[in-house]
Amino acid sequence: MTVRMIIDTDTASDDAVALAMALRHPGVRVLAITTVAGNCSVEQATRNALFTTELCESDVPVHQGAAGPLLVPASFATWFHGQDGLGDQGYPPPLRRREATDAITALVATIRANPGCTVVTLGPLTNVVMALRQAPDLVDCVERCVVMGGTVNAVGNVTPAAEFNLWFDPHAARAVFSSGLPIELAPWEICRGDAGLNRAEQEALRGLNTPLGHFFVDCNSTAMEAARRQSGTERMELPDPAAMAIALDKEAVVTRSTRHYVEIEAGSPLTRGMSVVDSLNVTGNPPNVEVIRAMDVDRFKQMIFEAAGG
Ligand code: RIB
Ligand code: CA
Repeated sequence: MTVRMIIDTDTASDDAVALAMALRHPGVRVLAITTVAGNCSVEQATRNALFTTELCESDVPVHQGAAGPLLVPASFATWFHGQDGLGDQGYPPPLRRREATDAITALVATIRANPGCTVVTLGPLTNVVMALRQAPDLVDCVERCVVMGGTVNAVGNVTPAAEFNLWFDPHAARAVFSSGLPIELAPWEICRGDAGLNRAEQEALRGLNTPLGHFFVDCNSTAMEAARRQSGTERMELPDPAAMAIALDKEAVVTRSTRHYVEIEAGSPLTRGMSVVDSLNVTGNPPNVEVIRAMDVDRFKQMIFEAAGG
């Protein structure tokens, strides 16, 4: 059965690969793409999303959303993804235009009109919480909400305690995790280590000699260099594609997941955005999140190559 999917994204390097994976998957109908500030401004994220849909020869509607977090100031990650979010490769502006309808309105209308849909979030959760505030009934319309974000009591990538998506708008993340949405959490650590594309795999991707194969490597070049400086890795770590692979083919990709109570810190400057996972169930609180603990790395990478046209 065709999966009806809505993707919320702060479209930068890894988001673009994840978008392509969904747009080129034969079993998925992407109903809408909604953009949110995070990696870059929401205007830039919208341009990048439109550009990526053009590369995928898709006319899926793109709706622009929140320009910043609910309460804290916006702190874009251009230091990681480049000024334009796509590795500053000088890509031309998109020919397509975004929809007049804003992202929040589009999320509410599209989810309500498609009960049983899958929502995939690849950026901060500002749009999602604003849609839930407008329409709490959305919780009952969403079959799966795959969230790229957080860590499981592990090192953060923007502070020692937090991963970027949840840190950027911690109040939105806190509200979404307590909303009752059926969250499947793809934490940052599952895209690291062997899950990252090594040099040979990057060359093989380029070796497909397809527009998307080159695009995947080129638009992630700045992020790769930033990751190397940050943690010493030589691999191309792709968190959003990891979340998308889970959304697209959970049976084949997920090798271990556990359910836990998860709460997001929004008050403490030190641990702002931390995903506090009750791994030992010591709080007695009912689990609200399925935490993806491990995935089949070979199947994950195969999906990236398939999307690139391999
Ligand atoms: O921490 C990684 C996440 O933050 C990814 O979604 C990346 O695109 C950035 O949004
Ligand atoms: Ca992202």
